[in-house]
Amino acid sequence: MYTDASIERLARDIVASKKTVALSGAGMSVESGIPTFRGKGGLWEKYNPEEYGHITTLRYHPERAWIMLKDMQLAILPAKPNAGHYALAELEALGLLSSIITQNVDGLHHVAGSKNVIEFHGNLQTTSCMDCGFQQPSSAVPLDTIPPRCPKCNGPVKPDAVFFGEAIPLDALTRSHQEAQSCELMLVIGTEAVVYPAASMPEIARSAGAKVVEINPSRTPLTDFICTYSIHGPAGEVLAKVVGKVKELRKG
Ligand code: OAD
Repeated sequence: MYTDASIERLARDIVASKKTVALSGAGMSVESGIPTFRGKGGLWEKYNPEEYGHITTLRYHPERAWIMLKDMQLAILPAKPNAGHYALAELEALGLLSSIITQNVDGLHHVAGSKNVIEFHGNLQTTSCMDCGFQQPSSAVPLDTIPPRCPKCNGPVKPDAVFFGEAIPLDALTRSHQEAQSCELMLVIGTEAVVYPAASMPEIARSAGAKVVEINPSRTPLTDFICTYSIHGPAGEVLAKVVGKVKELRKG
């Protein structure tokens, strides 16, 4: 797994860095009870993403897309932030984390108190009508009869998340590029880093001279080629220890 020395190394790197940015993925929320996409027990084992997660399916066969979306909503709606989300919020409050670029649509970084969160793939907290644009909280959308219809015009309802076949919101893309290009340290937490353009952020940071440190129980395509070093452990556990060490170093 990982050693106390690697926790201390990361804590020292965070304290020394003038600008640190985090990139988070589904593994960040595993300790909150939300399954990942890839790998054993992942969502994409159950649903073919190109079919169920595609914008065309949502438009023309919303009953299919909403089978998967209902599953996701039922996992996300009751979920609470874990120690990792709180640790990152604390780092930001200490002035040691500039931003979080998250691929997650669960909104848990916000709930934990992080302020500068770039939601690269949107979120599942709100939904909008694909015809008239009427927006409402997802908690107001009934899941007992799917697909839900817009209460204003009866149009198809879409969560405000990015689907396959859709572009990344321009603002999120621009801000993420700026953050990746200008950081000294990037923490890559709980992502397999295979979905672009989010997966290019560690490459951008590394090319610009930043250290890239991965926190993930498993190896990823970044481990050997992009990462300065990796800490192989669960995000919540590792981040709580790292932030504890950071506070110790700052006191001393
Ligand atoms: P993946 O499901 O591809 O990868 C999850 C990663 O989390 C894997 O590398 C796991 O090893 C790691 N992991 C598992 N448990 C963990 C833990 N407790 N702590 C830390 N890491 C852990 O998820 P993403 O890389 O986030 O896109 O997937 C990227 C995008 O693919 C998603 O945003 C989604 C999906 O298609 C859209 O919905 C547009």
